[in-house]
Amino acid sequence: DLVMASTDLREKLKSIGQGHVLRFFDALESARRKSLLHQLQSLDLDSLAELADEYVKHKPTAALPKEIQPAKAYPHVPDESLREFYQQAQTKGRELLHEGKVAAFLVAGGQGTRLGYDGPKGEFPVTPIRNKPLFQVFAEQLRGHARDFGRVIPWYIMTSDVNDAPTRAFFERHHHFGYDSKDIFFFQQGMMPAFSLDGQLLLADKDSLALSPDGHGGSLRALHRSGALADMRKRGIEHLSYFQVDNPLVHCIDPVFLGLHALTGREMSSKTIPKAGALEKVGNFVIADGVLQVIEYSDLPESLAQQKNPDGSLKFNAGSIAIHALSMPFIERLNESGQLKLPWHRAEKKVAYVDQHGKAIKPDKPNAVKLEQFVFDAIPLARNAIVYTTDRAEEFSPVKNAEGADSPETCR
Ligand code: UD1
Repeated sequence: DLVMASTDLREKLKSIGQGHVLRFFDALESARRKSLLHQLQSLDLDSLAELADEYVKHKPTAALPKEIQPAKAYPHVPDESLREFYQQAQTKGRELLHEGKVAAFLVAGGQGTRLGYDGPKGEFPVTPIRNKPLFQVFAEQLRGHARDFGRVIPWYIMTSDVNDAPTRAFFERHHHFGYDSKDIFFFQQGMMPAFSLDGQLLLADKDSLALSPDGHGGSLRALHRSGALADMRKRGIEHLSYFQVDNPLVHCIDPVFLGLHALTGREMSSKTIPKAGALEKVGNFVIADGVLQVIEYSDLPESLAQQKNPDGSLKFNAGSIAIHALSMPFIERLNESGQLKLPWHRAEKKVAYVDQHGKAIKPDKPNAVKLEQFVFDAIPLARNAIVYTTDRAEEFSPVKNAEGADSPETCR
């Protein structure tokens, strides 16, 4: 079988110009051969060839939209004209929770390299007095809401190959923080191989490609492929409350936000806060060529980021804090064609690899391209997406860096 599989693969790889990844194959012992075959079989080789052409060999010309305008957001505190609507939203959100139609969705598949913590980031002890880990902070919130609404809130947690086993073990060790284990659904996101700058797949070792998680946008594909969506259907879930592992202040469940999202029949809604400054490292909600979307801080030209209104306030002030509400039919629609149609983002990185002689190389400058998809790129695909403003002090203090801004110290 091993020989058969490798013959087919060898042909396939050759045809897409990646035959070299089996260079050491014949000399490997059988377990190591198997693991390399397994990695290769989990990749969509046809689309890899296209990706290498489109995103790696040539830098895609990042066409910034022609017309970029600030996005409008629902205010945190409603004015007279919105007061009644917010009341209705609150009622709607509470109703959905009573009826068990909302699930929590945590993405925790990232590598957390900037924090320098050796393990899944959710294990990180974050609270100032009792040192509760991030995972516990979320679990306690969710259980509190479940108690208030008399319904369990099923919790979907996305991990990746880099942290799946330790994440599951951590939850086991902590008795799932009081959750019934059948109400937590772990699943893994996909992995993407790193390419050399000329489009060749890099080997991390003779029996292994250099792989990394495919970005939080990959969650929308992984929900489908893992059976998580099917599980939600079975439970009667209609909306997902999406959050990232690094922000312990997130309101994992927010009835007003969920209610606004549902009442207006939206497919994907997002929370925003006024930025801390023109160059804060958060995504920016904008209307670009007429469509609501997020432009990442690294892609928004500084001349735009610095623009002011007549009263001196920032023109582009709607920061993205990566909190979203997503409706089930929307996620299903995104997966309909079997291909999740989100763009890929290209980043040049230093990636250790073995060269053609089998020698391990540790580059001292970027030698590789990694590709990731971002969840907020689904916003322009959603019908009538909305943005709702929340309060920074209440809801956003992420732990991203070991020191300085957005560090454990600022967060505590
Ligand atoms: C992200 C947003 C930024 C936003 C900010 C708010 C991007 C590119 N940028 O920045 O617009 O303002 O958060 O805090 O997302 N993750 C996975 N799988 C992956 C990659 C990431 O699950 O393959 C998860 C991480 O575990 C983490 C979250 O996504 O929970 C954030 O990822 P990260 O890459 O650290 O985003 P930021 O650059 O911090």
